[in-house]
Amino acid sequence: MATNRHGLQERIEARIRENLLDLVDSKQWNIYRGRFVNAVQARAEELLGVPCLTTNAGTAALELGLRAHGIGPGDDVVIPSSTFVATAQAVLLTGARPVLCDVDDTTFNPEPEHVRAVLTPDTRAVIFVHTFGNPSGAGRVAQFCTERGLLLLEDAAQALGARLGTRAVGSLGDGAAFSFNTSKPLSCGDGGMFTTGDPRVHERAKAIRHAGLREVPDGRFLAHEIGGKSLLTEFQAAVLEPQFEAFEELAQIRTQTALLLREHLPRVSPHARLQHIDHDALSAWQRVAVTLDTPERAEQVLAEHPWLERFYIAALVDEPVVARHALYTEEIAHRCRDLWGRLVGVTLWPFQDLDELILQATNLTERQDKATVMPELPEPSEPPGPVNGGRR
Ligand SMILES: Cc1ncc(COP(=O)(O)O)c(C=O)c1O
Repeated sequence: MATNRHGLQERIEARIRENLLDLVDSKQWNIYRGRFVNAVQARAEELLGVPCLTTNAGTAALELGLRAHGIGPGDDVVIPSSTFVATAQAVLLTGARPVLCDVDDTTFNPEPEHVRAVLTPDTRAVIFVHTFGNPSGAGRVAQFCTERGLLLLEDAAQALGARLGTRAVGSLGDGAAFSFNTSKPLSCGDGGMFTTGDPRVHERAKAIRHAGLREVPDGRFLAHEIGGKSLLTEFQAAVLEPQFEAFEELAQIRTQTALLLREHLPRVSPHARLQHIDHDALSAWQRVAVTLDTPERAEQVLAEHPWLERFYIAALVDEPVVARHALYTEEIAHRCRDLWGRLVGVTLWPFQDLDELILQATNLTERQDKATVMPELPEPSEPPGPVNGGRR
């Protein structure tokens, strides 16, 4: 119901204001003593079931995950050709080489055969990106990585709250990175989080996150290795904390909105096909996406429906830094451009007016009487169950 959505948003915004004022007055801005970073970490750990380290961005969290596993120059890291350039940049920042693999045309995620096709003698890790919040295929790629002795890092930048069967995204591999950037399910402008179930990797990532510092037996903190500074501040955490508190309600509204949009979005063209979600997967619905049969048709749909968007400014292989430093075949480049050209949809930005988006999607653009035309969402109750996408 519209009032529910708005009521929740207003409540969260009021709590953010309160938190920020309290924080300014308290002058407890150091993250190690501050209450908000600790509260966010504790709530995230409860949600995901693995220890978390907050960071200043998702890119930093990915880089930390790679570095903490010892990935660096001479190593190859497989990444999907459907991802945002930040995935490739995190690999490049460590000195390793991104190797692009193809993805499934319906989930936009890789399958084991796509990873297998691009392995090199130097491949040490695979980054699985949960595209637009969708974890479909992650279990199969995790199994493949285990069999091959490859590290699996999850790029869960878009996927906080997604689940595969009974397991939370962020706990499926050797480590995971989340983002709290403006377009992500929870946002504080910019921010991130690294998760791992391995205590040694956690400790190493924690050290690299802050000047390489580790506690030595006499109680001092000394820098034993190269480390920068990529901490989430108390101010960012003060914005995130009420969102984490309301996580279930927010996720439910997001899911209901996404399902409603998925009913309407295919109407933009008889050639539009919804992103596939496996039967055991629950998407975080960062975006709702369809593919058209050709890039030309996508162009036409975008012209007719200005509320729809393309998701990245360029296909990954058309990012100059990727073209210069990553490894991929001509065929993968061709398929990467083709998928990018055919993909359109909407981003479910946090703090946006979802009613407006729903009105656009349902073609009710003349809003004479919002209250009477607004499609009703059910009252929030139990957290939503998995969405059956119909295949696999
Ligand atoms: C798939 C993916 N990976 C990584 C990132 C990087 O996250 P951040 O912008 O927080 O550094 C993003 C976000 O933009 C993303 O969408």
